[in-house]
Amino acid sequence: MRSLEGASVLITGGGSGLGAGTARHFAERGAKVTISGRRPEKIRAVADAIGEHCQPVVSDVTRQADREELVAAAVAHGDGLDVLVNNAGNMYRGPVTELEEEPLLGIFRSNVVGPMLLTGAAVPHLAERKGAVIFLGSVHTRRAFPGASPYAATKGAIEVLTKVLAAELGPQDIRVNCVVPGAVFTEINQRAGLFDDDTARQRLDSMAEMHALGRIGSEEEIAEAIAHLACAEWTTGAVLDVDGGLGLGLTKA
Ligand SMILES: NC(=O)c1ccc[n+]([C@@H]2O[C@H](COP(=O)([O-])OP(=O)(O)OC[C@H]3O[C@@H](n4cnc5c(N)ncnc54)[C@H](OP(=O)(O)O)[C@@H]3O)[C@@H](O)[C@H]2O)c1
Repeated sequence: MRSLEGASVLITGGGSGLGAGTARHFAERGAKVTISGRRPEKIRAVADAIGEHCQPVVSDVTRQADREELVAAAVAHGDGLDVLVNNAGNMYRGPVTELEEEPLLGIFRSNVVGPMLLTGAAVPHLAERKGAVIFLGSVHTRRAFPGASPYAATKGAIEVLTKVLAAELGPQDIRVNCVVPGAVFTEINQRAGLFDDDTARQRLDSMAEMHALGRIGSEEEIAEAIAHLACAEWTTGAVLDVDGGLGLGLTKA
Protein backbone atom coordinates (compact mmCIF):
# COMPACT_ATOMS: atom_id res chain seq x y z
CA MET A 1 0.00 0.00 0.00
CA ARG A 2 1.51 3.27 -1.13
CA SER A 3 1.70 6.34 1.14
CA LEU A 4 0.20 9.67 0.12
CA GLU A 5 2.90 11.61 1.99
CA GLY A 6 4.50 13.93 -0.59
CA ALA A 7 2.42 12.53 -3.46
CA SER A 8 1.41 14.92 -6.24
CA VAL A 9 -2.35 14.75 -6.78
CA LEU A 10 -4.48 16.54 -9.39
CA ILE A 11 -8.22 16.79 -8.66
CA THR A 12 -10.57 18.34 -11.22
CA GLY A 13 -13.64 20.15 -9.94
CA GLY A 14 -12.04 20.79 -6.57
CA GLY A 15 -13.94 23.97 -5.75
CA SER A 16 -16.96 22.25 -4.20
CA GLY A 17 -18.53 18.98 -3.13
CA LEU A 18 -16.66 15.71 -3.49
CA GLY A 19 -13.64 17.34 -5.16
CA ALA A 20 -13.18 19.79 -2.30
CA GLY A 21 -13.60 17.01 0.27
CA THR A 22 -11.08 14.86 -1.59
CA ALA A 23 -8.58 17.74 -1.74
CA ARG A 24 -8.85 18.22 2.04
CA HIS A 25 -8.44 14.48 2.65
CA PHE A 26 -5.36 14.10 0.45
CA ALA A 27 -3.76 17.26 1.89
CA GLU A 28 -4.33 16.02 5.45
CA ARG A 29 -2.45 12.85 4.48
CA GLY A 30 0.53 14.88 3.27
CA ALA A 31 -0.12 15.14 -0.46
CA LYS A 32 0.63 18.15 -2.63
CA VAL A 33 -2.70 18.86 -4.25
CA THR A 34 -3.68 20.80 -7.37
CA ILE A 35 -7.38 21.55 -7.78
CA SER A 36 -9.14 22.89 -10.85
CA GLY A 37 -12.48 24.45 -11.71
CA ARG A 38 -13.95 27.22 -13.83
CA ARG A 39 -14.95 29.57 -10.97
CA PRO A 40 -11.82 31.16 -9.49
CA GLU A 41 -13.45 32.16 -6.19
CA LYS A 42 -14.55 28.59 -5.42
CA ILE A 43 -11.17 26.91 -5.94
CA ARG A 44 -9.35 29.79 -4.20
CA ALA A 45 -11.52 29.44 -1.10
CA VAL A 46 -10.83 25.70 -0.87
CA ALA A 47 -7.10 26.18 -1.42
CA ASP A 48 -6.89 29.03 1.12
CA ALA A 49 -8.55 26.84 3.75
CA ILE A 50 -6.14 23.95 3.07
CA GLY A 51 -2.96 26.02 2.94
CA GLU A 52 0.25 25.99 0.93
CA HIS A 53 -0.01 22.34 -0.12
CA CYS A 54 -3.04 23.11 -2.27
CA GLN A 55 -2.69 24.95 -5.57
CA PRO A 56 -5.84 26.28 -7.30
CA VAL A 57 -5.79 26.46 -11.12
CA VAL A 58 -8.63 27.99 -13.10
CA SER A 59 -9.23 25.42 -15.80
CA ASP A 60 -12.08 24.06 -17.91
CA VAL A 61 -11.70 20.33 -18.53
CA THR A 62 -13.46 20.66 -21.88
CA ARG A 63 -10.73 22.93 -23.30
CA GLN A 64 -7.53 21.44 -24.68
CA ALA A 65 -5.25 24.37 -23.83
CA ASP A 66 -6.62 24.37 -20.26
CA ARG A 67 -6.00 20.65 -19.88
CA GLU A 68 -2.38 20.97 -21.00
CA GLU A 69 -1.74 23.94 -18.70
CA LEU A 70 -3.41 22.14 -15.80
CA VAL A 71 -1.23 19.06 -16.09
CA ALA A 72 1.87 21.24 -16.37
CA ALA A 73 0.84 23.23 -13.28
CA ALA A 74 0.24 20.07 -11.25
CA VAL A 75 3.60 18.62 -12.31
CA ALA A 76 5.34 21.87 -11.32
CA HIS A 77 3.54 22.10 -7.96
CA GLY A 78 4.10 18.47 -6.96
CA ASP A 79 7.39 17.78 -8.77
CA GLY A 80 5.70 15.18 -10.98
CA LEU A 81 2.28 13.56 -10.93
CA ASP A 82 1.21 10.51 -8.92
CA VAL A 83 -2.58 10.63 -8.95
CA LEU A 84 -5.24 12.10 -11.25
CA VAL A 85 -8.78 12.27 -9.86
CA ASN A 86 -11.24 12.92 -12.70
CA ASN A 87 -13.93 14.38 -10.46
CA ALA A 88 -15.35 17.40 -12.35
CA GLY A 89 -18.83 16.68 -13.64
CA ASN A 90 -22.21 18.15 -14.43
CA MET A 91 -25.87 17.11 -14.34
CA TYR A 92 -28.33 17.39 -17.20
CA ARG A 93 -31.71 15.74 -17.00
CA GLY A 94 -35.11 15.73 -18.64
CA PRO A 95 -37.54 13.40 -20.41
CA VAL A 96 -35.96 11.90 -23.53
CA THR A 97 -38.65 13.59 -25.64
CA GLU A 98 -37.42 17.00 -24.48
CA LEU A 99 -33.64 16.62 -24.55
CA GLU A 100 -31.67 19.17 -26.54
CA GLU A 101 -28.57 18.35 -28.51
CA GLU A 102 -26.25 21.09 -27.23
CA PRO A 103 -26.65 20.45 -23.48
CA LEU A 104 -26.50 16.72 -24.19
CA LEU A 105 -23.21 17.08 -26.02
CA GLY A 106 -22.07 19.47 -23.29
CA ILE A 107 -22.50 16.93 -20.52
CA PHE A 108 -20.65 14.31 -22.54
CA ARG A 109 -17.85 16.85 -23.08
CA SER A 110 -17.44 17.61 -19.37
CA ASN A 111 -18.17 14.15 -17.96
CA VAL A 112 -16.53 11.87 -20.54
CA VAL A 113 -14.55 13.49 -23.36
CA GLY A 114 -12.67 16.03 -21.21
CA PRO A 115 -11.65 13.47 -18.57
CA MET A 116 -10.52 11.03 -21.30
CA LEU A 117 -8.31 13.65 -22.93
CA LEU A 118 -7.01 14.95 -19.61
CA THR A 119 -6.04 11.39 -18.71
CA GLY A 120 -4.15 11.12 -21.99
CA ALA A 121 -2.28 14.35 -21.26
CA ALA A 122 -1.35 13.06 -17.79
CA VAL A 123 -0.17 9.60 -18.86
CA PRO A 124 3.50 10.46 -19.61
CA HIS A 125 3.85 11.96 -16.12
CA LEU A 126 1.90 9.20 -14.35
CA ALA A 127 4.05 6.58 -16.09
CA GLU A 128 7.17 8.08 -14.52
CA ARG A 129 5.69 7.53 -11.04
CA LYS A 130 3.67 4.29 -11.43
CA GLY A 131 0.70 6.53 -10.93
CA ALA A 132 -3.05 6.11 -10.60
CA VAL A 133 -6.17 7.50 -12.24
CA ILE A 134 -9.48 7.56 -10.39
CA PHE A 135 -12.75 8.28 -12.19
CA LEU A 136 -16.05 9.23 -10.55
CA GLY A 137 -19.00 7.11 -11.63
CA SER A 138 -22.48 7.28 -10.12
CA VAL A 139 -25.19 5.17 -8.51
CA HIS A 140 -27.24 6.20 -11.57
CA THR A 141 -25.72 3.13 -13.29
CA ARG A 142 -27.10 0.92 -10.50
CA ARG A 143 -30.59 2.38 -10.11
CA ALA A 144 -32.68 3.87 -12.91
CA PHE A 145 -33.90 7.40 -12.20
CA PRO A 146 -36.44 8.33 -14.91
CA GLY A 147 -35.45 11.61 -16.55
CA ALA A 148 -31.76 11.26 -15.74
CA SER A 149 -30.74 9.41 -18.92
CA PRO A 150 -28.08 11.95 -20.07
CA TYR A 151 -26.18 11.89 -16.78
CA ALA A 152 -26.54 8.12 -16.33
CA ALA A 153 -25.26 7.52 -19.87
CA THR A 154 -22.11 9.57 -19.19
CA LYS A 155 -21.44 7.57 -16.02
CA GLY A 156 -21.99 4.27 -17.83
CA ALA A 157 -19.33 5.38 -20.29
CA ILE A 158 -16.98 6.15 -17.41
CA GLU A 159 -17.24 2.62 -16.01
CA VAL A 160 -16.39 1.06 -19.38
CA LEU A 161 -13.58 3.56 -19.83
CA THR A 162 -12.14 2.55 -16.47
CA LYS A 163 -11.86 -1.08 -17.55
CA VAL A 164 -10.41 -0.41 -21.01
CA LEU A 165 -7.87 2.13 -19.77
CA ALA A 166 -6.85 -0.19 -16.92
CA ALA A 167 -5.99 -2.80 -19.56
CA GLU A 168 -4.34 -0.25 -21.86
CA LEU A 169 -2.22 1.50 -19.24
CA GLY A 170 -1.35 -1.49 -17.05
CA PRO A 171 1.82 -2.21 -19.04
CA GLN A 172 3.01 1.31 -18.09
CA ASP A 173 2.30 0.51 -14.41
CA ILE A 174 -0.55 3.03 -14.32
CA ARG A 175 -3.64 1.86 -12.40
CA VAL A 176 -7.11 3.02 -13.40
CA ASN A 177 -10.08 2.67 -11.04
CA CYS A 178 -13.51 4.15 -10.47
CA VAL A 179 -15.46 5.13 -7.36
CA VAL A 180 -19.23 4.93 -7.73
CA PRO A 181 -20.73 7.30 -5.13
CA GLY A 182 -24.29 7.24 -3.92
CA ALA A 183 -26.19 10.27 -2.65
CA VAL A 184 -24.08 13.05 -1.10
CA PHE A 185 -25.31 16.63 -0.65
CA THR A 186 -23.25 18.85 -3.00
CA GLU A 187 -24.10 21.61 -5.47
CA ILE A 188 -24.31 19.54 -8.66
CA ASN A 189 -28.11 19.80 -9.06
CA GLN A 190 -28.24 23.44 -7.98
CA ARG A 191 -25.52 24.39 -10.53
CA ALA A 192 -27.66 22.76 -13.20
CA GLY A 193 -30.55 25.02 -12.14
CA LEU A 194 -32.68 22.06 -11.05
CA PHE A 195 -33.33 22.81 -7.36
CA ASP A 196 -32.41 25.30 -4.66
CA ASP A 197 -30.27 24.16 -1.73
CA ASP A 198 -33.21 23.37 0.56
CA THR A 199 -35.08 21.33 -2.03
CA ALA A 200 -31.92 19.45 -3.00
CA ARG A 201 -31.27 18.62 0.65
CA GLN A 202 -34.87 17.48 1.21
CA ARG A 203 -34.80 15.27 -1.89
CA LEU A 204 -31.61 13.56 -0.76
CA ASP A 205 -32.81 13.13 2.82
CA SER A 206 -36.03 11.57 1.54
CA MET A 207 -33.86 8.86 -0.06
CA ALA A 208 -32.43 7.77 3.32
CA GLU A 209 -34.64 4.71 3.63
CA MET A 210 -33.55 3.47 0.18
CA HIS A 211 -30.07 2.88 1.68
CA ALA A 212 -29.12 -0.33 3.49
CA LEU A 213 -27.37 1.93 6.01
CA GLY A 214 -30.36 4.26 6.31
CA ARG A 215 -28.67 7.55 5.43
CA ILE A 216 -27.00 9.52 2.65
CA GLY A 217 -23.19 9.82 2.62
CA SER A 218 -20.59 12.53 3.19
CA GLU A 219 -17.80 14.04 1.12
CA GLU A 220 -15.27 12.51 3.50
CA GLU A 221 -16.65 9.00 3.00
CA ILE A 222 -16.16 9.29 -0.77
CA ALA A 223 -12.70 10.83 -0.32
CA GLU A 224 -11.61 7.85 1.82
CA ALA A 225 -12.50 5.47 -1.03
CA ILE A 226 -10.72 7.60 -3.63
CA ALA A 227 -7.62 7.68 -1.43
CA HIS A 228 -7.80 3.91 -0.96
CA LEU A 229 -7.75 3.39 -4.74
CA ALA A 230 -4.87 5.85 -5.05
CA CYS A 231 -2.82 3.69 -2.67
CA ALA A 232 -3.88 0.09 -3.44
CA GLU A 233 -0.98 -1.10 -5.59
CA TRP A 234 -2.50 -4.30 -7.03
CA THR A 235 -5.95 -2.89 -7.75
CA THR A 236 -6.77 -1.82 -11.29
CA GLY A 237 -9.94 -1.84 -13.38
CA ALA A 238 -12.01 -1.83 -10.16
CA VAL A 239 -15.38 -0.14 -9.98
CA LEU A 240 -16.03 0.42 -6.29
CA ASP A 241 -19.56 1.21 -5.04
CA VAL A 242 -19.49 3.62 -2.10
CA ASP A 243 -23.15 4.33 -1.51
CA GLY A 244 -24.39 3.06 1.86
CA GLY A 245 -26.17 0.28 -0.02
CA LEU A 246 -28.31 2.57 -2.22
CA GLY A 247 -27.33 0.66 -5.34
CA LEU A 248 -28.60 -2.63 -3.89
CA GLY A 249 -32.14 -1.72 -4.90
CA LEU A 250 -33.55 -2.47 -1.45
CA THR A 251 -37.13 -3.75 -1.42
CA LYS A 252 -39.27 -3.82 1.69
CA ALA A 253 -42.08 -6.11 0.52
N1 LIG B 1 -23.01 14.31 -5.09
C1 LIG B 1 -23.41 13.10 -5.42
O1 LIG B 1 -24.35 12.57 -4.80
C2 LIG B 1 -22.70 12.33 -6.50
C3 LIG B 1 -23.08 11.01 -6.68
C4 LIG B 1 -22.45 10.28 -7.66
C5 LIG B 1 -21.45 10.83 -8.43
N2 LIG B 1 -21.10 12.14 -8.24
C6 LIG B 1 -20.01 12.68 -9.08
O2 LIG B 1 -19.06 13.28 -8.27
C7 LIG B 1 -18.36 14.28 -9.00
C8 LIG B 1 -18.34 15.57 -8.19
O3 LIG B 1 -19.66 16.07 -8.12
P1 LIG B 1 -20.25 16.82 -6.84
O4 LIG B 1 -21.47 16.09 -6.45
O5 LIG B 1 -19.19 17.06 -5.86
O6 LIG B 1 -20.79 18.16 -7.53
P2 LIG B 1 -20.29 19.67 -7.44
O7 LIG B 1 -20.24 20.14 -6.04
O8 LIG B 1 -21.18 20.40 -8.38
O9 LIG B 1 -18.79 19.59 -7.98
C9 LIG B 1 -18.47 19.45 -9.34
C10 LIG B 1 -17.34 20.43 -9.64
O10 LIG B 1 -16.93 20.26 -10.99
C11 LIG B 1 -16.58 21.52 -11.51
N3 LIG B 1 -16.73 21.49 -12.96
C12 LIG B 1 -17.86 21.31 -13.67
N4 LIG B 1 -17.60 21.38 -14.96
C13 LIG B 1 -16.28 21.62 -15.09
C14 LIG B 1 -15.43 21.81 -16.19
N5 LIG B 1 -15.89 21.81 -17.45
N6 LIG B 1 -14.12 22.02 -15.96
C15 LIG B 1 -13.64 22.04 -14.69
N7 LIG B 1 -14.40 21.87 -13.61
C16 LIG B 1 -15.71 21.68 -13.81
C17 LIG B 1 -17.54 22.51 -10.84
O11 LIG B 1 -16.95 23.80 -10.68
P3 LIG B 1 -17.08 24.94 -11.79
O12 LIG B 1 -18.53 25.04 -12.17
O13 LIG B 1 -16.56 26.17 -11.09
O14 LIG B 1 -16.20 24.54 -12.92
C18 LIG B 1 -17.76 21.88 -9.48
O15 LIG B 1 -16.94 22.47 -8.48
C19 LIG B 1 -19.09 14.41 -10.35
O16 LIG B 1 -18.38 13.68 -11.33
C20 LIG B 1 -20.42 13.76 -10.07
O17 LIG B 1 -21.02 13.26 -11.23
C21 LIG B 1 -21.71 12.90 -7.29
